[in-house]
Amino acid sequence: MATSEKQLEELALKQYGEKSVYSRGLENVIIKYTALTFIDGNKGILKYRGIPIEEIASKGTYEELIYLFLYGKLPNREELNKLKDTLNSNYEVPKEVLDAIYMMPKDSDPIALLELSTAVLAGLEKDFKWSKDTDKQRAIEIIPKMAAMVANVYRHKEGKSPKIPSPSDSYARSFLEACFDRKVTDEEANVMDKALVLYADHEVPASTTAGLVVVSTLSDMYSGIVGALAALKGPLHGGAAEAAFRQFLEIGSPDRVEEWFNEKIIKGKNRLMGFGHRVYKVYDPRAKIFKSLAESLTQKNPDARKYYEIAKKLEELGINQFGSKGIYPNTDFYSGIVYYALGFPVYMYTALFALSRTLGWLAHFIEYVDEQHRLIRPRAVYVGPENASWIPMDQRS
Ligand code: ACO
Repeated sequence: MATSEKQLEELALKQYGEKSVYSRGLENVIIKYTALTFIDGNKGILKYRGIPIEEIASKGTYEELIYLFLYGKLPNREELNKLKDTLNSNYEVPKEVLDAIYMMPKDSDPIALLELSTAVLAGLEKDFKWSKDTDKQRAIEIIPKMAAMVANVYRHKEGKSPKIPSPSDSYARSFLEACFDRKVTDEEANVMDKALVLYADHEVPASTTAGLVVVSTLSDMYSGIVGALAALKGPLHGGAAEAAFRQFLEIGSPDRVEEWFNEKIIKGKNRLMGFGHRVYKVYDPRAKIFKSLAESLTQKNPDARKYYEIAKKLEELGINQFGSKGIYPNTDFYSGIVYYALGFPVYMYTALFALSRTLGWLAHFIEYVDEQHRLIRPRAVYVGPENASWIPMDQRS
């Protein structure tokens, strides 16, 4: 069977002609245009609608980002207030959505619970139609429902009763208070808001691409999110924040980092989770911001500080070992420490990523369906037998 890249390229050419491109993992394939997010992976630059991520993370809020992504400009005060009102009045989810979460065993995977509850929303809205006139508004109404679902996934797993986020001055605050049943401090709300901003979009990674494939069939927005969630779950993508933090837990103390690294990464040849990226060949700019957030947030929290110290040492060893291959910390390396310091259990990290990324998914779906729609339908190179016949059962080996 032909399996080398060269053979596959030749076969693709033979089967589909000169226009065909064979690209394993769709590397270097461009599937859409976007005015949302720009990444220069060699320089470590990330911009949302032209604004550097560093500037957005220090000056902006998630609500402003929702407006920026969907409407292409920063909202004025009146527009922002209107957007906040819409968010605040859309946290409610149908009873069936909560039933779907709470009927499942408590040890169910959080992303599976989100897929399930999002699919319930798709099931309840029977005549979804894409429309340039309403898509953006609809996205703004879906985003708070994700906050309600993520909060209730957490509540269910922690044995708490259902609760819908209450309106407040910030999306991050409403979400945290629905999770924790207490007033959160401004610092906590602010840190959660920054985490939401940092994970809000990243062009077309596996999850966004999976969602785009779904909505390219003109399936509904919710189903697009289900597709994106399914792809996000894997440890090579959104699951990496959890996997990275589990490394820190396994290491347990800063003086064990070197021994663990030699055993697991060098001798064991395991991948260092939270390191490496298909696009970034230098330090992920989001990881730098998460690192400094983790640094300041853990100052007065000795337990979380321990994991920050472990991560810092591990980063140093990882860069020494892999930096020359362009493998550096990605956004998932330090984000878990921030979530941990906020009080979230490790199993929630991918769901928290999803909460934030729902914005990027929806913005890309709308950009694609409303402006540049075409069914996504690639081809595969056929490498099986050319001519074969059906073998009767009693003649089969
Ligand atoms: N640790 C050790 N080696 C690595 C790592 C890593 N984290 N990442 C890549 N490599 C090595 C591979 O072993 C391979 O080496 P080889 O050429 O000697 O065989 C080489 O780098 C290329 O690896 P690929 O997997 O082909 O490169 P790809 O572009 O697909 O990698 C990926 C991207 C999947 C993210 C990879 O870096 C990885 O597995 N990282 C760990 C998981 C992770 O942190 N994922 C989160 C990504 S960010 C996000 O999704 C939000």
